[in-house]
Amino acid sequence: MEIKLEPKKLGEVDSDALVVVGFEGAPPGAAAADQIKEWYDSGEFSGKGLEVAILHRPAGLQAKRLVLAGGGKREKFDAGELRKLTGAVVRTLKSKGIHSITLAVDEAWRSDDMVASAVEGAVLADLENDRYKTDPKKNEKHVDSFAVLGGSQAAVERGRILAEAQNFTRDLANEPANVLTPTLLAERAKQMASEFGLECEVLDQDRMRQLGMGALLGVAQGSAEPPALIVIRYQPATTPASKDHLGLIGKGVTFDTGGISIKPSDGMEKMRYDMAGGAAVLGAMRAIAQLKPPIPVTALVPTVENMPGSKAQRPGDIVKSLSGKTIEVLNTDAEGRLILIDALTYARRLGCTHLVDAATLTGAIVVALGNVNIGAFTNNEAFLNKFRAAAKAEGEKTWQLPMDEEYKELLKSNFADLHNIGGRSGGSITAAWFIRDFVDDTPWIHLDIAGTAWLDDAKPHMAKGATGVGLRTFVRLAETW
Ligand code: BES
Ligand code: ZN
Ligand code: ZN
Repeated sequence: MEIKLEPKKLGEVDSDALVVVGFEGAPPGAAAADQIKEWYDSGEFSGKGLEVAILHRPAGLQAKRLVLAGGGKREKFDAGELRKLTGAVVRTLKSKGIHSITLAVDEAWRSDDMVASAVEGAVLADLENDRYKTDPKKNEKHVDSFAVLGGSQAAVERGRILAEAQNFTRDLANEPANVLTPTLLAERAKQMASEFGLECEVLDQDRMRQLGMGALLGVAQGSAEPPALIVIRYQPATTPASKDHLGLIGKGVTFDTGGISIKPSDGMEKMRYDMAGGAAVLGAMRAIAQLKPPIPVTALVPTVENMPGSKAQRPGDIVKSLSGKTIEVLNTDAEGRLILIDALTYARRLGCTHLVDAATLTGAIVVALGNVNIGAFTNNEAFLNKFRAAAKAEGEKTWQLPMDEEYKELLKSNFADLHNIGGRSGGSITAAWFIRDFVDDTPWIHLDIAGTAWLDDAKPHMAKGATGVGLRTFVRLAETW
């Protein structure tokens, strides 16, 4: 989809659809005012969120259609609402075979954040999760071009870069696990890095064995697919004054059967998105390479397939992590934390001073927060506050969970330094504590995205499947460092 900034007057727009936003009780007066007022007066259109009305051959306009889109309550309209509204409108118009769309945003909403959000909404709405459908007609309904009437070119560019990166992430997470193996994920990461001028190194099984990444390798050993540790580096052009170095670590389990502690078959097919954290981190690097924030950023994606093969690790096995600490593996389905800790230890060795990990880590977070909020954990409140401010600005919802010392008690092992599960209660918190035990005092944030990385059903603004959650916040965190 082509993205354009078109500083035109409403009457000059000649696309298939000119979209204007109408709020509850507040019809826009800019174009076709009489017709719009009639819609409001008759009650056919009230301005409620995501409502859409279409007028053909509007008087006084060159555009083929005037589309009135409901913005909801004017006071509540912000960048997040605009992103969703634009997405919903683009998806609606796309399904009707409309190819070129122009969005008119009021002078009042031409801040960089608003304009970028509008572009993001459109680009995100463009992606469908239908790569493997062979219907020859599937691509007939698509949008060729999306234009915004005002705002800065930089904001339009930022929105496009972020959303294209988010679609890159979504594409990866949507791939079935027979296609996207750890090897292919590493291959895609290398391609992306070379395309955008980033340094990329992939540690293979032998290298990880030499280093002593026993926790990660223990998870990988049940699968015929070899594991990998993807490392991508971004360095700003001018050396920053501080030593700060952001590490982004994403869980990259390309399929999670649970291993010998095998999962029930119902819904197991969804476990192909168990690499969504890794995909988000890779997508963030794709955007960071283009937006060039002032801080060095290193992404690490430990990637494995968790299978119950004949070489699989068994409950009760004791592995030695890169940190030197030993772990009793009581449940082979608690594998995400095992691969993350070796990657986190390695990130600290590479010089990362601040760590953020993203992982589809626990079913318990879905029980606690549903599909709305990312579960956020930290050992450093100030760092998390900074992160949550970035998340809020990007319309990504987070909810902090507690990390009292009492929860840590549940990880004490009889035979090793700790074991990898904490029992049924507080499952997301004990998982976070397990990871925290390996970062020591390095400022660290853990994001449990099991509930937010996947949509079982399409939303008005987004297709079903992977969401790409987390990415925009990672990028803003780096940009505003
Ligand atoms: N990948 C799962 C978590 C998950 C669940 C992601 C639902 C997405 C949706 C993770 O590896 C896992 O299996 N966690 C276990 C931990 C338990 C064994 C302590 C869980 O949540 O049941
Ligand atoms: Zn698991
Ligand atoms: Zn998992």
